[in-house]
Amino acid sequence: MPDAPGPVAAGGGRTAVAAGYPVCYDRASMATSVHSTAVVYPNVQLGDGVTVGEYVVLGTPPRGASPGEHATVIGADSVIRSHTVIYAGNIIGAGFQSGHATLLREFNHIGDQVSIGSHTVIEHHVEIGDGVRIHSGAFIPEYSLLEPEAWVGPHVTFTNTLHPLCPRAKDCLRGPRVRRGAKIGANATLLPDLEVGEMALVGAAAVVVQDVPARMVVVGNPARVVRSIDLLTCPYGLMDSPYNVTSER
Ligand SMILES: CC(C)(COP(=O)(O)OP(=O)(O)OC[C@H]1O[C@@H](n2cnc3c(N)ncnc32)[C@H](O)[C@@H]1OP(=O)(O)O)[C@@H](O)C(=O)NCCC(=O)NCCS
Repeated sequence: MPDAPGPVAAGGGRTAVAAGYPVCYDRASMATSVHSTAVVYPNVQLGDGVTVGEYVVLGTPPRGASPGEHATVIGADSVIRSHTVIYAGNIIGAGFQSGHATLLREFNHIGDQVSIGSHTVIEHHVEIGDGVRIHSGAFIPEYSLLEPEAWVGPHVTFTNTLHPLCPRAKDCLRGPRVRRGAKIGANATLLPDLEVGEMALVGAAAVVVQDVPARMVVVGNPARVVRSIDLLTCPYGLMDSPYNVTSER
């Protein structure tokens, strides 16, 4: 049952919110604002300047945990848009942005300046580096890794079980590892336990079944390497090479 019925302001530039659960929580002080319709469970720590929108739920205990058992940390200047649900145990850096109705299950580590779009689902134990951007409607299952500056397009699906419902499936969950700066085009599907190399580019709707070498473009089902990103050209003549900024005209 809830302990403290209201918010508790803590020092250190952070606000420890210990609202009774699951009550609506009304707070507007300094630059941090939590909409009156938001539900904030105990042990949620909001940095300065965080904005929490309508009907957001923060710190939902995962199954088997009690409210407040696991800390939830959301860094300074984050914007949590309406209907987002963030489970307990997420440790999120500064400048985080969620779209509307984004879902983050428990125990994810998320760096600074990360953006996760509307209706995207992040399962648990996902590692997301600084500057990662994930578009709308994506699905990122447990044990996936996105290194800094990776980019994921709309409706992309990562997978983590090669043989669904195998009796040992839960013992071998392994999500994809998307290395630094790699980009995944719209509607692509990534099979489990593979690596998309640094700065690689996965074409729209590709089905990636094996590792993608760094800086390579892959397309199709099954996805095959078609060229290096260094050989892509801009069809609009804005620059010689979209991924070589020194070639800008
Ligand atoms: C893969 C991609 C980067 C290729 O870019 P490009 O400048 O069109 O490159 P190319 O013209 O050299 O295309 C290479 C070949 O792959 C084919 N191809 C391009 N994209 C493809 C795709 N997604 N699926 C299958 N084949 C594709 C092209 O038809 C071409 O075939 P060809 O050599 O037989 O003519 C681009 O098509 C793509 O899919 N970008 C991602 C778009 C996206 O999802 N954006 C999200 C924004 S919200």
